[in-house]
Amino acid sequence: MAGETESFFEKSLAPFYHGVASGDPTSRELVIWTRVTPEYEGEIELSWKIALDSLQKKIVQKGVIKTDHTRDYTVKQLVSGLQPGRYYWYSFAFNGKTSVVGRTKTLPENPDSIRLVVISCNAYEAGYFNAFQAIGDKKEKIDAVVHLGDYIYEGFSARFIELSDRIPLPKKELVTLLDYRTRYAQYRLDAQLRYAHQRHPFIHIWDDHEIANDAYQTGAQGHNPEEEGDFEERKKHARKAFYEWVAIKDQPALFRKVSFGELAELFLLDGRLEGRTEQMAPTERGFTSPERRLLGQRQSEWLIDGLTKTKATWKLIGNPVLFAEYNFSPVIPNIATRKADNWSGYPGERNEVLSSFSLNSIRNILFLSGDSHCSWAFEIPDPFHTTKPIAVEVGVPSISSGNWDSGNPLETVLRWEKELYAHPENQDLEYVNLRDHGYVEVVIFKDQVQCFWHYVNKDSHEYMDQVGKSCVIPQGANQIILK
Ligand SMILES: [Fe+2]
Repeated sequence: MAGETESFFEKSLAPFYHGVASGDPTSRELVIWTRVTPEYEGEIELSWKIALDSLQKKIVQKGVIKTDHTRDYTVKQLVSGLQPGRYYWYSFAFNGKTSVVGRTKTLPENPDSIRLVVISCNAYEAGYFNAFQAIGDKKEKIDAVVHLGDYIYEGFSARFIELSDRIPLPKKELVTLLDYRTRYAQYRLDAQLRYAHQRHPFIHIWDDHEIANDAYQTGAQGHNPEEEGDFEERKKHARKAFYEWVAIKDQPALFRKVSFGELAELFLLDGRLEGRTEQMAPTERGFTSPERRLLGQRQSEWLIDGLTKTKATWKLIGNPVLFAEYNFSPVIPNIATRKADNWSGYPGERNEVLSSFSLNSIRNILFLSGDSHCSWAFEIPDPFHTTKPIAVEVGVPSISSGNWDSGNPLETVLRWEKELYAHPENQDLEYVNLRDHGYVEVVIFKDQVQCFWHYVNKDSHEYMDQVGKSCVIPQGANQIILK
């Protein structure tokens, strides 16, 4: 039961080596999570409790829950009937041993402001999870950590292993259910990742690497059916392990909304398994066809309908891949294949979504986007009045996954950044950083949103958390004002 990752166990945490986590908070409920590693196979029953204080003297709810090998001994308990905007402390117990105590928080019901941490792309082999430690240490009241995907990486390639003490397990590309479970288990044994989960509730979506590189609904660039079998099977394993190991509410579809009252609504997208069709190069026939989708019909209708009807001032979109169009040729002269996986690789559906903002007079849309491993800010032009922006986009750097700092001299990367700004097709680009890692803190007020790009080095245990750039997005303007 301990499996291949046993050597990473911190004995004092037995049998809750993988810590605790919480997720999908609303103003009344949230999920609490743990994984127990029992000594013997079979169904086990553990107890949980949630309290108003860190010493867990003022217990508000408790119960028992069962788990077994069919869910890899993970446990998810949905706790309802909580008070809005409150901190809670929770823990689990089994066989006389208790887990660490996790802190979590319900969302406020109709707040004047909210503070989110937005992250993506934590490749274990590419660096230490210092950014997770920094997030765990944050003194400000964080309403939720929004993870935009690439929580694990399914590959096994010497090219991406930047630290010899962080070899991914199993030592192969993930295909079977056991493979995916083992990789999640290894990530969850990282003390810094555990710490961030112990301190804040997370809201997760996936991107491709929870499944296979450049995944779409019926296949993936990184899936070879001859060697790796049926893609549907692999997808089933990837999805099952994700729902087991991530503190997310069990639900039929990953795309969903989170309400912050009249202040904001967060639309979380599934850019992979819900309805994405295969990537295509812009030179191929049919590239612009409206049949080609990133979200799929059902999800894009849901998104447009939700954005049109919401009463919330700010419409946040938890977006797995960049929406803005930009010319990346200063960095990669032949860019066609790279852009194919972004929204710009699906111009039909992209245009449908973008046009709906203008046609339905939807204001204050902020895309929060993962995947690129770099930091970005864009003002996205209105397709009907190209001199006026209709939405803004903030791209979050990776926690640790490689970006352009890997293997390139700093001067070269700085020159690329300058050339990107200067490129005539990049007039919508307000900010780019191709070389730092970390997270974005987003503070939302009625009259403005403030974004702070925090940079945290990943290559040594010694680290600093520094704000590298910040911006203000005033209400009603669809504008990025850099600070
Ligand atoms: Fe990534």
